[in-house]
Amino acid sequence: MEHTINHMGKEILFSRDVIGQRVNILAARISEDYQERDLILIGVLKGAFVFMADLIRSMTIPCRIDFVRLASYGSGSTSQGEITLTKDIEMPIEGQDILIVEDIVDTGLTLSYFVESLKRRNPRSIKVCVFLDKRKRRKTVFEADYVGFTIDDGFVVGYGLDFDEQARFLPDVYLIKA
Ligand code: XMP
Ligand code: MG
Repeated sequence: MEHTINHMGKEILFSRDVIGQRVNILAARISEDYQERDLILIGVLKGAFVFMADLIRSMTIPCRIDFVRLASYGSGSTSQGEITLTKDIEMPIEGQDILIVEDIVDTGLTLSYFVESLKRRNPRSIKVCVFLDKRKRRKTVFEADYVGFTIDDGFVVGYGLDFDEQARFLPDVYLIKA
């Protein structure tokens, strides 16, 4: 089991307290921006589930939620640009205000693809909220509307984010050391 996360060096990048404070700020901003609107949050499985659970419970407006699962072909940790929807949303979104919730944007390929595919269903609006914005490796122009934290590079785990399905359960975010 040499490739379990326990054998790799890691350091805390964002503690649970810092994450909690930042999530509250994002939730307040979203609640303000979507007052009197009919908001649907669409979480991208699996990574976004922890962030989304905290976000909606800190928001002060009602919302509905749905989920998608997106698969990108190629290596496990980086997008190759070929993305498919392996689990679709279950709600009609025509005329609705949509906020996509994702764990991390890296190359930007996954979210660019997904935003474009949702636009074809004619929602009233689409915005994107990401927990982490990893800016160094963009392969396409992509800016999220709400960003938890910005990081330069490096692989992170915890708070929903995984390394080979490990470490999603950790309440803090760690940077894996090479
Ligand atoms: P894009 O298309 O923006 O894809 O490159 C983002 C997806 O890549 C994965 N990813 C990570 N997952 N720690 C993770 O646990 C990371 O540091 C990381 N960087 C990218 C993730 O699945 C995300 O949805
Ligand atoms: Mg993901």
